[in-house]
Amino acid sequence: PSDDHVRIVEVGPRDGLQNEKQSIPVATKLELVRRLAETGLKTIEAGSFVSPKWVPQMASSDEILSQILKSPPASSSPITYQFLVPNEKGLDSFLSVYNNHTTSSTSSTTTPKIELSIFTAATESFTRKNTNCSIAESLDRFKPIMTRAKDASIPVRAYISVALGCPYEGPNVDPHQTASLAVSLLEMGADEISVADTTGMGTAPKTAELLKTLFAAGIEKKDLALHFHDTYGMALVNTVVALEHGIRTFDSAVGGLGGCPFSPGATGNVATEDLVHLVSSLGAKTDVDMEKLSEVGEWISGQLGRANESRAGKATLAG
Ligand code: HMG
Ligand code: MG
Repeated sequence: PSDDHVRIVEVGPRDGLQNEKQSIPVATKLELVRRLAETGLKTIEAGSFVSPKWVPQMASSDEILSQILKSPPASSSPITYQFLVPNEKGLDSFLSVYNNHTTSSTSSTTTPKIELSIFTAATESFTRKNTNCSIAESLDRFKPIMTRAKDASIPVRAYISVALGCPYEGPNVDPHQTASLAVSLLEMGADEISVADTTGMGTAPKTAELLKTLFAAGIEKKDLALHFHDTYGMALVNTVVALEHGIRTFDSAVGGLGGCPFSPGATGNVATEDLVHLVSSLGAKTDVDMEKLSEVGEWISGQLGRANESRAGKATLAG
């Protein structure tokens, strides 16, 4: 993105839904993706090829990917869809759908762009709870994923969770650990690092310190995204700090949906509506239609029987 442009990665269909206890029909998940595609959002994280025993809600991700490839959601500009893979088994499941479609497809121009995301964390405890391995083992798992994804020309994003606070190790997570992981992931070939405040324990000073540590380790602004959960209501404050440090990519979920099943007590991502409102209040652009987006937030909240967590979304609809 150019300097006055903020890129949003909409994680609602994945991070937003993965923690919901009730089973959500695949049709509703697809409808969410289709509605989001019409708002001007250009990157949507749509599912996750993780173990259904660990995260039952994401079990339908093969169906979601297949439908997106078979009948791409209508949108005014091309959209990139992202999917999480934790290990080679997840990559195999992803590729069996992806290759099946891309080899049988007659027109590659209408095929949407697909990207993968791998994920590890800045603390040993969280990595163990989330993916049943150590940090070092998680990096070992990624090497073959990275090689095979590159062979298939699929870009790979890498998440680093709990960078600003861990549910098991407390609020003070060493930023050097995140920096050294980010360096390793970039060296391995990651195209972008999304640094996550999984617990929402981040504050303005901690965000600034983390970014300075990342820059000091040689990581460039253009290679970074920030992923804020809003558990303590600090997400927009931390976003402003990140913007002031030159970051231009942020993850968010429509309606403020979301949470990680392995981060007890953590609530949703920052609401995409609130992020869009913040960015435009600063005179920068997202290309997202605030009215349409707010309608999607209200709709999906209703479908899930949840309160709409976006202040700006509700105000837009009331206004
Ligand atoms: P494990 O149990 O150690 O795996 O789980 P395993 O290799 O020992 O295999 C055990 C069984 O699971 C086997 O089946 C495998 O086939 C199966 P069985 O023989 O017993 O029938 N299995 C799989 N099935 C489907 N898909 C797979 C897969 N892998 C193994 N990919 C594993 C290890 C990593 C799979 C597990 O811990 C897992 O799925 N974890 C995912 C947790 C997760 O999804 N967390 C939420 C996403 S991350 C997040 O939300 C944070 C983020 O938003 C940023 C932030 O906010 O911090 C990104
Ligand atoms: Mg998250």
